[in-house]
Amino acid sequence: MPVPAPPLLFIDLAALQVLVGKLHPLVVHFPIALLTLAGLLELRGWIAGRPAGGEARACLWIGALGAVASAISGWIFAAGHDGGDTLFWHRWGGIAVSVLALGALLLSRRERPAAAFRPIVLLLAPAVGLVGHLGGELSWGEGYLRDAIVAVFETRTPEPAPAPEGMTEEELHFVEVVWPILRDSCVECHGEMKQKGDLRLDRREDALAAPSIVAGDAEASDLVFLLESDFEEERMPPPEEGPPLPAEEIAAIRRWIDAGAPWPAGELPAAPR
Ligand code: HEC
Repeated sequence: MPVPAPPLLFIDLAALQVLVGKLHPLVVHFPIALLTLAGLLELRGWIAGRPAGGEARACLWIGALGAVASAISGWIFAAGHDGGDTLFWHRWGGIAVSVLALGALLLSRRERPAAAFRPIVLLLAPAVGLVGHLGGELSWGEGYLRDAIVAVFETRTPEPAPAPEGMTEEELHFVEVVWPILRDSCVECHGEMKQKGDLRLDRREDALAAPSIVAGDAEASDLVFLLESDFEEERMPPPEEGPPLPAEEIAAIRRWIDAGAPWPAGELPAAPR
């Protein structure tokens, strides 16, 4: 019997290229962090009056190598992508940062770095931040950061409080008489926190959609029926919550429903403290 040939391992260069490209998002964090740190350390040295170089050197080393690795992997990653202007600036910005970082590295090899060292290292920190941000726009969409910042300060026009002058008599009756009854006797179980029996009475759209309110016909409305019921098991509010609503409150609710259950848009008065 012929022995099957062992599988041959070989390197797929095209796949390797794809892999190197996909390492870009991982590799970029090194130059971003380290070149920024190099800038900060150099800034601290400058403020303290120390000579250029110093602690920034070690960060610069790894940061510069990381920048070159990022530029190469990024170039491969972007091949065949149409990223428009953003991609153009991100690419060439990345190359510029790499060149500057390598230049600074060369300058730092001397015992006393040349005068250009400090300004280049200080410039690298914002530059790498900008290039990284352009990369962010490429992956998350243009304006992803700006929109989030703007959203924090967005102004909202508050819903206008119902102006009493603008309301009909029946709307006023709801706001001043009926709503306080619902708010004080019902919303505890039919409001934001609980919606017993699937009924919510603190919001216009929910209340007006409730099957137990037949706008224009209080007699046909289950809500009224339950308020007037002598049958303790079904009466609203439930007996353990307290006595039935007084007749004049039920009459006010009847009047509101018979008038078509008008509910003006806008904020309703909260319970008095
Ligand atoms: C302590 C809680 C509580 C309070 C307060 C309360 N309810 Fe209820 N309500 C319930 C529960 C529980 C149900 C569900 C009963 C069932 O499905 O058997 C319900 C059901 C209803 C229903 C029937 C909903 C449907 O379509 O099936 C209406 C109408 C209703 N309540 C109106 C009111 C009104 C009006 C008030 C205020 C005067 C009120 N309730 C106060 C607990 C409460």
